[in-house]
Amino acid sequence: MQFIVTGGSGFIGSNFVRQALARPEVKRLINIDALTYAGSRTSLTSIEADPRYRFVQADITDAAAIEKILVEETVLAEKPLDAVINFAAESHVDRSIHTPEDFIHTNVFGTAILLGRARHHGVKRFLQISTDEVYGSLGAEGKFSETTPLHPNSPYSASKAGADLLVLAAYHTYGQDVVITRCSNNYGPYQFPEKLIPLMILSALQDRPLPIYGDGLQVRDWIHVEDHCEAVWQVLTRGHSGEVYNVGADAELTNISLVHEILKQLDKPESLITHVTDRLGHDRRYAIDSSKIHRELGWQPKWQQQEGLVATIQWYLEHQEWWRPLLAGGKFS
Ligand SMILES: NC(=O)c1ccc[n+]([C@@H]2O[C@H](COP(=O)([O-])OP(=O)(O)OC[C@H]3O[C@@H](n4cnc5c(N)ncnc54)[C@H](O)[C@@H]3O)[C@@H](O)[C@H]2O)c1
Repeated sequence: MQFIVTGGSGFIGSNFVRQALARPEVKRLINIDALTYAGSRTSLTSIEADPRYRFVQADITDAAAIEKILVEETVLAEKPLDAVINFAAESHVDRSIHTPEDFIHTNVFGTAILLGRARHHGVKRFLQISTDEVYGSLGAEGKFSETTPLHPNSPYSASKAGADLLVLAAYHTYGQDVVITRCSNNYGPYQFPEKLIPLMILSALQDRPLPIYGDGLQVRDWIHVEDHCEAVWQVLTRGHSGEVYNVGADAELTNISLVHEILKQLDKPESLITHVTDRLGHDRRYAIDSSKIHRELGWQPKWQQQEGLVATIQWYLEHQEWWRPLLAGGKFS
């Protein structure tokens, strides 16, 4: 297989690139990433020298740059590429509250550029990496299925929902081969420290206050990033065209219990917890029904939540050379 990954220097993208290059059937993998504050080439140091891998620093909203890469790679492959997998996004809800325009630009306009260029060059499949947040928020009961109506509540999730609609429109209008994954909250190695789990681990390690939004009783459904990446591979290679696949690991947890667990694992005092004003429009509960991907593609998560969390904490303890420059370099505020 020969394909493009966008956003491959971010958290999930870099885990996907490493996992994909471990597969002998991957002959060429081109990573297009703008290297925003959230992207780091050091997340892929271990595979940089792989002759099958090419990194291009480019913005997915730059149609001329995307066109040039597609022309070069199609000539090199002597046939249309097998896929474009779009991980690139502005991904942090808090930032979207302050600068929604950046989210519309990358997440909606960028997806439209990629879809159009991929179609023009006959790329066989377009895989959009989406999120369960497009479904909105749940009460105490129920789960999101693929037929749950879209009801995004933040500028981030609204921009992701917009992108999903463009992808599905390309299927209906042009017959473009597209698939979408909608995954729950990911955790694991190489996650940028502004996100909940690394933020709490790194704050605790530095004996700094752990800021908890509101009462901390918001529920998130956690999945290890490696399980998500395997699901993406299954959808890429075996998913049905025009379909959406939810991805989750049935692992709901309140934010406050998660933070208690992190403090326990690091042997740090609960007095570090500081409740701060809740996020504007904060979704209360996410829970995802992944029965479709289990049934149709046989995918199952491998990581148990407890062992995944312990392994993630251990990873941040052992990879200070990865995260300390991010803190020192002012990329994280
Ligand atoms: N993190 C989660 O829990 C989660 C859950 C479900 C879905 N998702 C989706 O998965 C994808 C990846 O999320 P993540 O957590 O790895 O995000 P991330 O913020 O860690 O990484 C995003 C990457 O995209 C790159 N990027 C941003 N704008 C770009 C642009 N205009 N052009 C090219 N590259 C650009 C960044 O440099 C970075 O490397 C996103 O589409 C996100 O919506 C994330």
